[in-house]
Amino acid sequence: PARVTLRTIRKKYEQGEQLTMVTAYDYPSAVHVDAAGIDLLLVGDSVAMVVHGHDTTLPITLDEMLVHCKAAARGARRAFLVGDLPFGCYETDVRDAVRSAVRMLKEGGMDAVKLEGGSPARVEAARAIVETGVAVMGHVGLTPQSVSVIGGFRPQAQVAEEALRVLDQAQALQRAGCFALVLECIPGPIAAAITRSLTIPTIGIGAGGECSGQVLVYHDLLGMMSHPHHAKVTPKFCKQYAQVGETISAALQQYRQDVEARAFPGPRFSPYTISHTEVLSLA
Ligand code: KIV
Ligand code: NA
Repeated sequence: PARVTLRTIRKKYEQGEQLTMVTAYDYPSAVHVDAAGIDLLLVGDSVAMVVHGHDTTLPITLDEMLVHCKAAARGARRAFLVGDLPFGCYETDVRDAVRSAVRMLKEGGMDAVKLEGGSPARVEAARAIVETGVAVMGHVGLTPQSVSVIGGFRPQAQVAEEALRVLDQAQALQRAGCFALVLECIPGPIAAAITRSLTIPTIGIGAGGECSGQVLVYHDLLGMMSHPHHAKVTPKFCKQYAQVGETISAALQQYRQDVEARAFPGPRFSPYTISHTEVLSLA
């Protein structure tokens, strides 16, 4: 199948078709996302939470992200690959931002990078990265890398003043040359207004149904952590399309029981044999 490019994405957006994006962090998840015909595959820094078990996205490093990018890139043949710039690798100055973004393409095999926030400094970083020749996806609303100043994972733009600020940031990121924007955890009507005001697509998560597309986290949409005793909760806005966690648990328990009962491997899964005379000659 032909690779998804910025031109493909642009065309779909202009024809009013919804864009689809899902995260993936390794070879098998990328194969699954790609084979499902998802347009954009995001190697998100959410990997810090759903794969590494951290409580926030802050601890993941650029080098760790690159390992995930490389593995995911090997599994995707069609999807447009976006890699998250992790916390700490693009905020200090524009040179850092450009250097980090270049690594995501040269080493990670990504097609584009995503960065969080719409402050003047972030907009400057986005512009410099685009000028270098790396496509940039913006991300406004709830920006999990700012959890320290936000004070938790809370919905954003709940009051008009804040909503206007998010709208301003979105427009500034568009002027900086971003090809699309993630809108996270803002009221649907605000996301709809932002989407209407832009000429680039918006990809919503917890932002209602009037964005130009939607994104969900792989492990959340698959119900990977759906065990009742597990501390990690699936976000309110996430529809679980499967309970993969239960399937995995059941399989692992069955395997344990089979081995303990000597039902596995048995003759069926013991393929390597040797003739009886050879065995006798060993004695
Ligand atoms: O890291 C991530 O998974 C993301 C999406 C939620 C947009 O940034
Ligand atoms: Na992210």
